Amino acid sequence: MKVLAICGSLRRGSYNRSLLRTTAALAPAGMEVEVVGIEGVPLFDEDLEKQGAPEAVANLRRKGKAADGLLFGCPEYNYGIAGPLKNAFDWLSRPDGEPRTPFVGRPVALLGASMSLIGTARAQLQLRQSLQGTGALTMPSPEVFVIRAQDKFDAEGTLTDQPTRDAVARLMAAFGNWIAKLKG
Ligand SMILES: Cc1cc2nc3c(=O)[nH]c(=O)nc-3n(C[C@H](O)[C@H](O)[C@H](O)COP(=O)(O)O)c2cc1C
Repeated sequence: MKVLAICGSLRRGSYNRSLLRTTAALAPAGMEVEVVGIEGVPLFDEDLEKQGAPEAVANLRRKGKAADGLLFGCPEYNYGIAGPLKNAFDWLSRPDGEPRTPFVGRPVALLGASMSLIGTARAQLQLRQSLQGTGALTMPSPEVFVIRAQDKFDAEGTLTDQPTRDAVARLMAAFGNWIAKLKG
């Protein structure tokens, strides 16, 4: 079972990227997680889209189609989805010549890390709402909100907080079941 984990932050030392790397390390047996970034994705513009998907978008689409499930690492900016992630999401939500958006019926999960005491809860809620608009089948629970990320990761980006590691492992196990259930 393949999961594509999309990091919504462009920051080199991103906590959300480190969190996704942790999901790969703690994934259940039989699940392979590939962590990808959204570097190089231009600002969405329908005129640009008419000229064909930019390479960075086409690459994410290809990998997304080949995956059994999509996982978003969702940063929070100003009480909402970080702009770069929403922009990449808007690109990926487009039908790209097919009759329906590529998210229809796809198993999706999300999690996020932030430096505040809210742990991206507001941004995740907004992303869930946007996912609903695309027809994605977003796993309702468990949810993972990593609060005060600066205290939970070491300088190398390793998630050192054991209760948080346990929560990530639970989410990944549940996502494996969610994907299997939806595949029927
Ligand atoms: C423009 C901006 C707005 C932010 N707003 C929030 C916020 O509303 N809530 C929050 O928890 N953190 C907020 N932060 C702090 C982020 O949680 C922090 O920068 C975090 O490291 C971003 O995720 P990353 O490490 O994956 O890049 C904000 C950061 C920036 C740059």
